[in-house]
Order: sequence, then C-alpha cells, then structure tokens
Amino acid sequence: MIVHFIGAGPGAADLITLRGRDLIAACPVCLYAGSLVPEALLAHCPEGARIVNTAPLSLDEIMAEIETAHAAGLDVARLHSGDLSVWSAMGEQLRRLHALGIPYSITPGVPAFSAAAAALGAELTLPGVAQSLVLTRTSGRASSMPEGETLENFAATGATLAIHLSVHVLEEVVDRLTPAYGPDCPCAVVWRASWPDQHIVKATLASVEEATGGLRGRTALILVGPALGAENFDESCLYAGDYDRRFRPVGTAPRFPEGAE
Ligand SMILES: C[S@@+](CC[C@H](N)C(=O)[O-])C[C@H]1O[C@@H](n2cnc3c(N)ncnc32)[C@H](O)[C@@H]1O
Repeated sequence: MIVHFIGAGPGAADLITLRGRDLIAACPVCLYAGSLVPEALLAHCPEGARIVNTAPLSLDEIMAEIETAHAAGLDVARLHSGDLSVWSAMGEQLRRLHALGIPYSITPGVPAFSAAAAALGAELTLPGVAQSLVLTRTSGRASSMPEGETLENFAATGATLAIHLSVHVLEEVVDRLTPAYGPDCPCAVVWRASWPDQHIVKATLASVEEATGGLRGRTALILVGPALGAENFDESCLYAGDYDRRFRPVGTAPRFPEGAE
C-alpha cells in the first residue's frame, strides 16, 4: 500500500501530468482537496473508488482515511491543487506518514504561478530586468509570516513577485510595494488561471485597485515587477549567433570542442 501525493494542477483538467492521471486511475481510494482541485479529474478514478473531498476534514480525519486504506491494503491518490511543494499542507501529512511507517510517492503538478504567467503571456525572468521570482503571500488567519519574509524586503530586491492568498488585501499589498517599485510598476491580477472563468487584469501598482473593479473571489494571484511590462530587455546570450557553447560550438577554436565532455 502506498499514498501517492499528486499535484492536480491549477484548474484546467488537462493540466495534470500523465503520471498523475495514471496514478489516479490505479488507486481505489482518492482523497482530494475539493476547494481548488477540479472535480473533472475525478473522472479518472476507477469504478467503485472511494472518493473523499477533504476540504471539510481535519488533519486527524484525513489521516484516519489513510490509515483505513492502509489497513485494507488499498493505494491512495491524494490530490492537492497546483504543485505540492508550495502551500499544499503536504509536509504535515508526510510527517504523520513517516511516524506511521506508511510509504508515499510525490508527483509534481503545474503550479498556479505558471498558469498565471501563461495566461499573461509573460516570462517572469527577463535578461537584465529580473532574474528571480519570489513566491510569497501575506499573513492570514491560519498562517503568520516568519519575521523577515516581508513584502517590503522582497520588493527591495526588484525581483518579480507572485503573491498568493492575498487578493483580498490588494490595497495593503499595493501600499507596501509602491515605495520600492514605484507607482508605474506593472502589476497583474489573474483569477482562476486556466479555469473556464479565468479573468485577467493588467495594470500598474497605481491603477490596479481601480482596474480590478472589486473582488472576483479569492482564487487569484497578484504578480508584480518590472519584468511584467518590459519591452526593452536584452536577448539571452544563450541563443546569440556568436555565443560559443557546448551545444553549438562557434569559431575556429571553440571553448568546448565537439566530443568534449
Ligand atoms: C493554498 S494555495 C495553493 C497553491 C498551489 N499549491 C500551487 O502550486 O500553486 C492557494 C492559492 O494559490 C493561488 N491559486 C491557486 N490556483 C490558482 C489559479 N488557478 N489561479 C490563480 N491563483 C491560483 C491563489 O492565490 C490561492 O489563494
């Protein structure tokens, strides 16, 4: 028996890996985080599977489901939205599985920030403009932010910020970022990226609140940073015709002669 943690992707039912889909199809038990995991994915479950929405369950209740499946020798597909490496609550489940000696596997998924960037048609790291992406959030009722992980500190780097779980405090986000980025810094909000009702607002820090025209639900990402609106950026050296590289030696004395390791 094994528990397969599977990244269910950002919303569109076909944005799941083939491995994730096949694992769902192979597991007689499916536990899914119903608040964000698309129900269409449950169509991959085998006939007769036990399918449980864990949104209303406590961690103890979720673990009880897993332990019952373990006792019966039934594999479990455990679905969380996006990817499992960020804000999935997988860590606490893994800790309990370790303690119980129950084996698990982890299959990554497409995170929300990737789907939002795709919706915007944007590369979040542009040469000479931004080479770092910060995935962050503001503090919430259930999770406070560790000291030092402030929007102001991240903004001081000039990196692109992908701010999760925070659209309900958009005004505060704008106020805290404007001193470092300036009012003209590009800012976008993407609601429900990749879902059929996806909604995008592209603006600046100064105009984004008015441009959103109020909230459209909390499943949204705020993206901020100069890379979002940059037209005037360098092309990457990697593909420059005269850039001598291992996979495309250039000139009479290439740095990496063909066949060199
Ligand atoms: C609990 S976190 C889950 C993050 C997820 N594990 C991931 O890899 O993206 C939920 C937050 O992610 C963001 N989010 C998740 N799905 C989204 C989507 N389809 N479009 C925009 N934001 C999304 C929102 O900020 C939401 O409040």
